[in-house]
Amino acid sequence: MSGQEDSVAAQVVRWQAEHGRNHLPWQNTRDAYRVWLSEIMLQQTQVATVLDYYPRFLARFPDVGALAAAPQDDVLALWSGLGYYSRARNLHRCAQLVVERHGGHFPRTVDELSALPGIGRSTAGAIASFCFGVRAPILDANVRRVLTRVLGFDADLAVARNERALWERAEALLPHADLERAMPRYTQGLMDLGASICSPKKPACIVCPLHEACVARRSGNPEHYPVRTRKLSRSAQSWWLLLQRDGQGRLWLERRPSPGIWAGLYCPPVFADRAALENHVAQAGLARAPLQDLSGFLHVLTHRDLHLHPVVAQVEGSALLTGAEQGSVTGIGWFAPADWPDLGLPAPVRKLLDDLPLLPLHPTVG
Ligand code: ADE
Repeated sequence: MSGQEDSVAAQVVRWQAEHGRNHLPWQNTRDAYRVWLSEIMLQQTQVATVLDYYPRFLARFPDVGALAAAPQDDVLALWSGLGYYSRARNLHRCAQLVVERHGGHFPRTVDELSALPGIGRSTAGAIASFCFGVRAPILDANVRRVLTRVLGFDADLAVARNERALWERAEALLPHADLERAMPRYTQGLMDLGASICSPKKPACIVCPLHEACVARRSGNPEHYPVRTRKLSRSAQSWWLLLQRDGQGRLWLERRPSPGIWAGLYCPPVFADRAALENHVAQAGLARAPLQDLSGFLHVLTHRDLHLHPVVAQVEGSALLTGAEQGSVTGIGWFAPADWPDLGLPAPVRKLLDDLPLLPLHPTVG
């Protein structure tokens, strides 16, 4: 322990009390269910969006037992629009494990927490420090930026050994003895610094509490940190979506297979190109259905650009496809507009469906 390291923690804690965020709905509680839920939602999602979803989720699932007992479809439906749906599936599984293995109480150590689905080392550190005051570091993207800059840590984080070394440095910066009670505030302070002052571009070093200590600020080029050589490899894919609409305005939806994009969510049938879509329409006996191309659009996923091409097929009656009528039981079938709000739908599909009633229904024949 050095005075320098202790003073970084002390300054973060002091700054957080005065300038940090202290009234978010998941703060001022040590209820691990609430903290865990917020941390999972915040993993890939902006605070402003989580502020919208979090209370609704809690109202429907007030505790870990309620979440564990719910059907997965209900969880996915409430998650709909937040994206990264593996989070929702892991969330549900995690709640079940907390009930089955831990008697409905979240475990208190980083090791036990990170053994649960969807909880990585950083999220485990956040839960343990917020709820149980455990001295555990966190390294989410914001905090990684703050700490690499403060420390002048410029080793390539694409290399696992360097990543491990950064965790060790983060551990060495944690508050000691007299400040230990301040662990939740320290953790929150690092998050708050990363979300405000220590921005990726043009950080506001002039008002930063770590102005003096920060190696990157002194170097004059804080934006150089963090260093990561390997960039995310991206690919692009085209998806042709067949929006089959029957005479009552119902839509044919199928639950997406797992594993894969949008696993477990409802989606119109997907085809690799227009020819495959047309082929399906012909084979399914929908040949006379007028096809109507809607505007294509881009949906950006973490590793992939999805070019979506929606095509509406107006079918006559609804018995043409298969006998599967009860969509929510079989995961495939006709769904009336009244059902759509309660379905787990990917955000771009929900948007498409929301706009669909604006298209006139063709008159049904026979
Ligand atoms: N991002 C991750 N955890 C957070 C928290 N507790 N408060 C604000 N933003 C966060």
